[in-house]
Formats: sequence, structure tokens, C-alpha cells
Amino acid sequence: MGENATTAEHNGPLGSHVQPETEEVLEQRALTSTLNSLLVYGKAAHYNLTKPRLAALSRLSSRHRELLTPFYTDHLAAVDRAIERNAEFLMLVARYGANEFEAPQDLREWEGATSFQIDQARSSVKQIYRDWSAEGAAERDACYGRVIRELNNLYSRERRSEVRVLVPGAGLGRLAYDIACEGYVSQGNEFSFHMLILSNFLLNHTTSENQFTIYPFLHTFSHTSTAANQIRAIQIPDKCPATFHISTASNFSFTAGSFTEIYANIEDEADKWDVITTVFFLDTAHNVLEYIDVISQGLKNSDGTGYWVNFGPLLYHFEEEQNSSGVAVANDADRQDGISIELPLDYLIAVIENCGFVFEKLETGIKTTYAADERAMGTWVFDSVFWVARKRKSGE
Ligand SMILES: C[S@@+](CC[C@H](N)C(=O)[O-])C[C@H]1O[C@@H](n2cnc3c(N)ncnc32)[C@H](O)[C@@H]1O
Repeated sequence: MGENATTAEHNGPLGSHVQPETEEVLEQRALTSTLNSLLVYGKAAHYNLTKPRLAALSRLSSRHRELLTPFYTDHLAAVDRAIERNAEFLMLVARYGANEFEAPQDLREWEGATSFQIDQARSSVKQIYRDWSAEGAAERDACYGRVIRELNNLYSRERRSEVRVLVPGAGLGRLAYDIACEGYVSQGNEFSFHMLILSNFLLNHTTSENQFTIYPFLHTFSHTSTAANQIRAIQIPDKCPATFHISTASNFSFTAGSFTEIYANIEDEADKWDVITTVFFLDTAHNVLEYIDVISQGLKNSDGTGYWVNFGPLLYHFEEEQNSSGVAVANDADRQDGISIELPLDYLIAVIENCGFVFEKLETGIKTTYAADERAMGTWVFDSVFWVARKRKSGE
């Protein structure tokens, strides 16, 4: 999952925390290497995307080179310009992030970014398109919209200010924010520093709609129907938190750290959640049973009105890692993070029922995309599952 925020008592991305020194050091490294990945995005993108293509061009026969000139070289120059615009945006985000997450002022103290983190910086640009652009609205409607419509079926507008909704794995925060805009008390939770730094910027530091221009599709040369599509500009944010005021500032918050640590063992019924909604999250678990337990413990159960609303595929994130490390990791008692439990949907449903849930709605085969370019010639389409599972009250 890359470099993540370790769990702490945060009130949001800006929250302060107290950690043992070693954890603090690790967290600082994770933070600064993530910030560095935003700073070096541009350099890395030129190096990985346009430079090798220009080099390949120079190795072609002169006839082939002539066939591609000036179209292809012009296109690569346009990709370079678009990279620069993305890089400027990410540098700005990194500046705010460094300040608010309290990174050392001296950049020489920052940890270098890994290539995995630089990849994450790249994919974050596409995630901004998914969460915060008008072009991403259709994709959002298929998942976030479905969740919000379901919440609004469950709760009348008058009741919503009393209804507490938790969004684990909140990514760039749009679902949690939109839920707050509907009048609920909403809390997003996220552990990836990329997501935390970017969501903090988008939620707290944009000042007008369509303030920034990014180029989310420039990184892919395949499945491209026109050169213009690859370098098309997207404006963000389509809805600006600074101008679209939610009813009370206190009904929206964000926590930084692992969901399974922050929300495990909530004892007091008043601290439990009316709704926990997971979107494209369940399959991020090493052990999905742990997620189910934490969700179950976190939901109200005194009166049978705690709901788990879930949407997404089952693309188990650690399947590949487990396959490639095999028995070595499975047998290593110190490497709990190396395991991956991948239940098929039918087993998963049975386990969830055994953990005290009643499925009130269950739909499968819902075609959905994730940060997909709708103009691309090819993209992943998931057959997602949607459910509303009510937690049985004690004794029911
Ligand atoms: C596939 S993304 C989905 C993001 C968002 N829900 C969406 O639909 O765009 C999964 C998110 O869950 C986050 N995540 C994974 N495991 C987590 C954990 N244990 N605690 C908090 N966040 C986690 C990841 O960092 C990532 O941002």
C-alpha cells in the first residue's frame, strides 16, 4: 500500500499526535518520502515517459522518422508541457503538505521517494479526476451516488444531523464530503500519505471551482484514440469546499491512520456509528475478516439500526504479493502484513451473516470503472457488488 500514516489520535489531516520515537521517525520518513514523490513527479515523468520515446524515435530509420515528424515529436512536446503543469500543481500541494504535516524545513532531511511512491503520485492525479472533476461525475454517481441515495432512503432530511456516518478508506475525500453536504455527520478515514496530503489540499486550500488544471491521462500511451485525448485538460475542483458551505463545520472530519487500529474496540454506544460505508475498500484488506470485525464492532447495535453500506469489486490487493512470496511469508509469524485472505463473494456473504449482519439489499454485477478515462479505447470494468447489511441488535 506504499507509505502510510501510522495510527494516531488525529482529528484530521492537520491533527497533532503523540507517538513513541521510533514510530515518529518512521512516520516522518513515510511523510517526507511521499512529499518527495510529489516534488520529483515532473522529473520522473519526463524521464520515464517522453525521454525514452524520443530516444526510440532517434533509433528509427530515417524514413520511419520522417513519417512520424513533426506529428509525434509535437505530441511528445505537448506531453512534456502537460507534465510540467501537473508537476507545478503537485509541487504546490507538497508545499502545503510539508507545512501542515510539519515536515522538516530542510529538504536534505527528507527521505528519497521510491519508484513505487512516484507511481502513486501519478495515479493520484487520476484519482483527483475521479473525485474532484465534473468529468468524473458519472463514475462517482455509479458508486458514491448509489451510497448517498441509499442513505437518503434510510434517513429523512430532518434526522440527518443526528446520523453519524464513517467512510473508511476515504481516498481523496469526496464521498465523505458529499455525505456531509447532505446533512449527515460524516468522518472520512485514510492512511495513505498521498491521499491525506492531496485531500487536505483539495478540501482545505482550494478557493474556487475549477481553480486548477491537471492532465490525468497523459501517462498512458496505449488505448488512446486521439493525441488530444491523451493530453486533455481537466479542471478541478468541480465543487469547492471553500465556497460550498456545509451546514456546520463540525459535521465533517477526517482521521489519519489505519481503520483497523483507530476504530477497533469502540466500547461506548454513543461513539459507535449509525452507518459505515465502504467503497472500493473491502478488498484492500490483508484479512477481510478483520475489516468485518471492526465494522461490526463500530456499528450501533442497541436497537438494530446500524448499517453497513458497501460498494465495490473484490480485487484483493495483496493477492499478487502473497502469490509471489508464497509459503515463505505465510509461515512467517512476524509477517502478518504479508498474508492475504481472498474470499469469493458467496463465502464472504456467508461470513458476514455469521458475524451478525442481515442483508437488506444485495446487488451484484454492477458495471463500474475506477478513475477510468471514458474516452480511452480500453479500460477495466468491474462487476461490483452493492449491499446494505443491517447489524442485528443483541438478542435478535
Ligand atoms: C481503492 S482506494 C478507494 C478510495 C475511495 N474509497 C474511492 O472509492 O475512490 C482504497 C483506499 O483505502 C485506503 N486504505 C487501505 N487500507 C486502509 C486502512 N487499513 N486504513 C485506512 N485506509 C486504508 C487506501 O489508502 C486507498 O486510498
